[in-house]
Amino acid sequence: AFQPRVFSGIQPSGGLTLGNYLGAIRRFVDMQNDAQYDGIEKIYCMVDQHAITVWQDPATLTRNTRELAAGYIAAGLDPTKSILFNQSQVAEHAQLAWIFNCVARMGWMQRMTQWKDKAGKNQQNASLGLFAYPSLMAADILIYHATHVPVGEDQKQHVELTRDIAIKFNHDFGVDFFPVTEPVIEGAATRVMSLRDGSKKMSKSDPSDASRINMTDDADAISQKIRKARTDPDALPSEADGLAERPEARNLVNIYAALSDQSVDQVLADVGGKQFSEFKPMLSDLAVAKLAPISAEMARLMEAPDEIDAILRDGANRARAIAAPILQKTYDIVGM
Ligand code: ADP
Ligand code: NA
Repeated sequence: AFQPRVFSGIQPSGGLTLGNYLGAIRRFVDMQNDAQYDGIEKIYCMVDQHAITVWQDPATLTRNTRELAAGYIAAGLDPTKSILFNQSQVAEHAQLAWIFNCVARMGWMQRMTQWKDKAGKNQQNASLGLFAYPSLMAADILIYHATHVPVGEDQKQHVELTRDIAIKFNHDFGVDFFPVTEPVIEGAATRVMSLRDGSKKMSKSDPSDASRINMTDDADAISQKIRKARTDPDALPSEADGLAERPEARNLVNIYAALSDQSVDQVLADVGGKQFSEFKPMLSDLAVAKLAPISAEMARLMEAPDEIDAILRDGANRARAIAAPILQKTYDIVGM
């Protein structure tokens, strides 16, 4: 039996979105503060080696890594309760990923929808790292023997691949060494959609800034984006079933529910029958009230990069202390 341990990460590939916040960071904070996870290590990473699978300007990458750390801390992650660090500073991730590259099969990677989406039509021109991304992600998780991985819906397939790698490694070498990790996908906003297109997820890599709310957007930008968000002409329904065929409406109600810690049905009991012209300003006010204190604290921390760097250095040391013996044992098992 493996002792429970929590791991997750976010790419420092651009500004954080409301999707990252509701689908990931806020869940990290909830788990940190949930008595159910007392005494369990929580390890939260900035995955810069994942970010460089597509081109990153070096100075921007450095800044984005600090800004992501600032976002973690401003949202409520406490470096004395959670381990916060930058992936590339713990070499064991990349070392284990190489072994997993030799365990995982080409066909497994080819089936990943994120690979297909991100590589687009010109797969021959995508980086080898983008193709191998899920193998590095498996290493991120399994180098800590993590059992619980809080992620948004879009990462479910990668966590399942992590399970496949653990199972194949254990089987190939006749050991019970890597745990079969569970994704933790919970809450009203496990998949926040683009404000411009209800069929696409909200993402920091979407070229349209109007498609997303950034954690650093000011009150004006937030209310303008919500005001312009695509909807339909109907009033809000009084029950969740009424949102089934209305992806844009459902998305805005899901966001409201997640930000106000209510279920979708609770929200609709209050706002059912309202037009979007009335609901959208309510949503803007709520989003501003929740995000403004976080972005103010992020801005303060960004003025103190040494403070951030010291937290990440300390986190890397603590992470390495867990990872190093697990890598050593892996090498023993493989015969290296
Ligand atoms: P992005 O997709 O914005 O580039 P990452 O791939 O680094 O971000 O994802 C970081 C975390 O944020 C993952 O747990 C992912 O599932 C979550 N996440 C990203 N976008 C969304 C979204 N639109 N809704 C819910 N969770 C999301
Ligand atoms: Na993602």
